[in-house]
Amino acid sequence: MRYLLLSDLHSNLEAAGAALARAREAGYDRALVLGDIVGYGADPNTVIDLLRGLPGLLAIRGNHDKVAAGLEEGEEFNEVARFAAIWTRRALTPGNLAFLRELPRGPLEFAPGRYLCHGTPLDEDGYLLEEEEAQRCFERLDFEVCFFGHSHLAGAFVLEGTRALRRPATEDGMVVGLARGRRYLVNPGSVGQPRDRDSRCSFGIYDDVRNAVILHRAEYPAAAAREKILAAGLPRRLGDRLLVGA
Ligand SMILES: [Fe+2]
Repeated sequence: MRYLLLSDLHSNLEAAGAALARAREAGYDRALVLGDIVGYGADPNTVIDLLRGLPGLLAIRGNHDKVAAGLEEGEEFNEVARFAAIWTRRALTPGNLAFLRELPRGPLEFAPGRYLCHGTPLDEDGYLLEEEEAQRCFERLDFEVCFFGHSHLAGAFVLEGTRALRRPATEDGMVVGLARGRRYLVNPGSVGQPRDRDSRCSFGIYDDVRNAVILHRAEYPAAAAREKILAAGLPRRLGDRLLVGA
């Protein structure tokens, strides 16, 4: 089975379209979404509609999905993020609002020993950036592989012996081999708002026969996504950052 891994799409239709086009070429059987489908970008409804049409879709919620769905008010959000989340809540169709509201919370087991989460497997809103936090997750929970998002940074943490080691993604097509007996936390990066100074959209494909994750980067028309953000009256910064991947 080949699983498409999408995270942090953030209502960016141009990026979602480019990622799905590249993923179709590569081939996959099921789509897994790691949260933050909406927030920041100008196309929440079309992005949700696109996802709802994907084969075998399994999606969990992110922090922006919760605020856009009205499950939380985003008190801990910065002003720009909160503005966009409330804008999104008003823009959503009733059907898509219900879709977001019903998204399950991670961690969610999608195959034996394989999980999805948004932030970390210990805290759906927490950031997994450092080896120390990865180490805590490996020690406290029993999983072989957990896919996560939220940081918008593609890469992996590998438990080798008793130490968690960070392996940042370095290039389009980077292969993270999943060796038997080792444990992994893997982030496919952000489709709709990459933050590693590479403006290309980021996603992954997990192949459970090859036992590997391939991390992809694809060009997309970020300038068009930025124009839509400005035209929608969303904060300019949300458009500008797409051009530089920050
Ligand atoms: Fe996000």
